[in-house]
Amino acid sequence: MKVLLDAATQEAALRADVVAGLTAARKWLPPKWFYDARGSELFERITELPEYYPTRAERAVLTAHAADVARHTGARTLVELGSGYSTKTRLLLEALPLTSFVAMDVSPTALEAAAERIAADHPHLRVDSVVGDFTQHLGHLPGGPGRLVAFLGGTIGNFEPADRARFLAGVRAALEPGEHLLLGTDLVKSPRVLVPAYDDAAGVTAEFNKNVLRVLNRHLDADFDLDGFTHVALWDADHEWIEMRLRARWPMRVTVPAVNLVVEFTTGEELRTEISAKFRREGVEKELTEAGFTLDHWWTDPEGRFALSLARARS
Ligand code: SAH
Ligand code: AVI
Repeated sequence: MKVLLDAATQEAALRADVVAGLTAARKWLPPKWFYDARGSELFERITELPEYYPTRAERAVLTAHAADVARHTGARTLVELGSGYSTKTRLLLEALPLTSFVAMDVSPTALEAAAERIAADHPHLRVDSVVGDFTQHLGHLPGGPGRLVAFLGGTIGNFEPADRARFLAGVRAALEPGEHLLLGTDLVKSPRVLVPAYDDAAGVTAEFNKNVLRVLNRHLDADFDLDGFTHVALWDADHEWIEMRLRARWPMRVTVPAVNLVVEFTTGEELRTEISAKFRREGVEKELTEAGFTLDHWWTDPEGRFALSLARARS
């Protein structure tokens, strides 16, 4: 396993994000801090919830179109960003004429489990794992020829729009003309379907949301009382995204000794922990085009809930 993010660098990044986010007028934290070992496991549990349709919908698209991806790309190297446990990726691994698979994620736990399983199932495939941040380390992707970058799960929706544009331009810059990006995007639909997907009856998403506070308690010696916060998921119709927040149930004074910070929460005050943008075809095509890609194929599940875009790097 190649480690581009060592513990000290991670801690420094966490400190900087916590200072920026918790001293802002409207408090926020970036979603990448959900994913310690427990957070990665909680996310896997989310993917199995009856309300959380995106994983099943994307799996349906991959099942129907992995062979098309193979035919259109002929990819020999698959690079998966934010790969987690690479559960759905096996559909691509089975369909593509690959010699090499590279997974990049911030979560070493998920990467390790995935790499072991994939190497066992595909003994002739070279499998590499990279502990890295896809907002910083795209320059470290392996060389080609014939690379396909997969960014699945709708994780692109967790970026702010400006960061999304920067990320797509970064992927384009890392590729040679003619190489491909396979991008999973969750699609705009009724809030009656969207909101429960982020506020499940079993409370797993609430646990996942609060996990970021556990990460701060453990790594920065903070004293967040998890019971003092309620999980909130709401649909922002103007931005067409789901927002996850943690709402203070009573006034709290939280200390974060590692960054010398005392943070006050008033009753009802919210801390934004994630956006999950939902997309339409026109928007995805426009953003891909602006980043230097051509959208060659757009596939959705039969119910039109989730899309996979196959895009080619333009010269
Ligand atoms: N691709 C998988 C997992 C999606 S969950 C799926 O479709 O089910 C999002 C994944 O992105 C997690 O594994 C998380 O650890 C990873 N991640 C989040 N922010 C990241 C970042 N900045 N750099 C690299 N990986 C990141
Ligand atoms: C990883 N990402 C695409 C998930 C999503 O749906 O935005 C993270 C998640 N947050 C709550 N549930 C799942």
